[in-house]
Amino acid sequence: MSTPESPERVALVTGGGSGIGREICRALARAGRKVAVADIQNGGMAETVAQITAADGVALAVPMDITSADAVASGVARINDALGPVDILVNCAGWDELMPFLSTDEDFWERVIDINFKGALRTTHACLPPMIESGWGRVINISSDAARVGSSMEAVYSGAKGAVISFSKTMAREMAKKGVTVNVVCPGPTATPLLDGIVNASDDGEKVINAMARAVPMKRVGEPHEVASAVAYFASEEAGYVTGQTLSVSGGLTMS
Ligand SMILES: NC(=O)c1ccc[n+]([C@@H]2O[C@H](COP(=O)([O-])OP(=O)(O)OC[C@H]3O[C@@H](n4cnc5c(N)ncnc54)[C@H](O)[C@@H]3O)[C@@H](O)[C@H]2O)c1
Repeated sequence: MSTPESPERVALVTGGGSGIGREICRALARAGRKVAVADIQNGGMAETVAQITAADGVALAVPMDITSADAVASGVARINDALGPVDILVNCAGWDELMPFLSTDEDFWERVIDINFKGALRTTHACLPPMIESGWGRVINISSDAARVGSSMEAVYSGAKGAVISFSKTMAREMAKKGVTVNVVCPGPTATPLLDGIVNASDDGEKVINAMARAVPMKRVGEPHEVASAVAYFASEEAGYVTGQTLSVSGGLTMS
């Protein structure tokens, strides 16, 4: 018999080795899920796994580059062998660099779209079949408030994150009768290594981030655990009648 928070569920979190992804892994482990921590940074993955196991949770590091369909397939196969089929997929891996659109080139567009949009296509394609077969699944995609309202110097990233929202709504419709929900969480500016990297890599970075924080009604950037709790809700047993939704966790930056 299943309990409201079934400990048997297996979660895969991409980008689980850092920032928001790490906090999502920790939140899901606290909810009794077995967590596959997928990333390209071995040190970051090991740290997330260590934090979860130290708190008596179950976690497995799974090296996985989401820009490679082969790496995704072999990573998912490894999770299947070690923990069981993936019931909960969280697409959190992401990347960007602040740049005016006219300074970007085709290689940059490819990289941004490959990581932020196509990565989620690859993992979703690999993980949905067993969810459909079991009649239960949760997909939670991490987009961004940049997708909802635009964000200066993040034109391609905003477009890729917008694609994540449109894709999620369509998947929510396709999966609606199969017991699989698909939802989106949009962080606003959140204190993570990605945000630090964006600030450090750009001449105008500090200015832009400060302007972002000023634009937030709560006048501060978010903390990764504040995003993770929204993901944990969408991943819960109780959220079974909620699908196709986009929830901003951004101190009121986006209201709709
Ligand atoms: N921090 C913010 O202000 C903010 C705002 C809006 C949305 N987001 C989104 O939240 C998500 C998490 O961002 P974060 O701030 O925690 O960033 P982060 O840089 O701290 O973590 C991102 C993780 O993704 C991993 N990653 C990158 N490319 C990968 C690939 N090809 N395959 C597998 N893993 C890969 C990185 O190694 C890293 O561990 C991203 O999707 C990001 O776009 C962040």
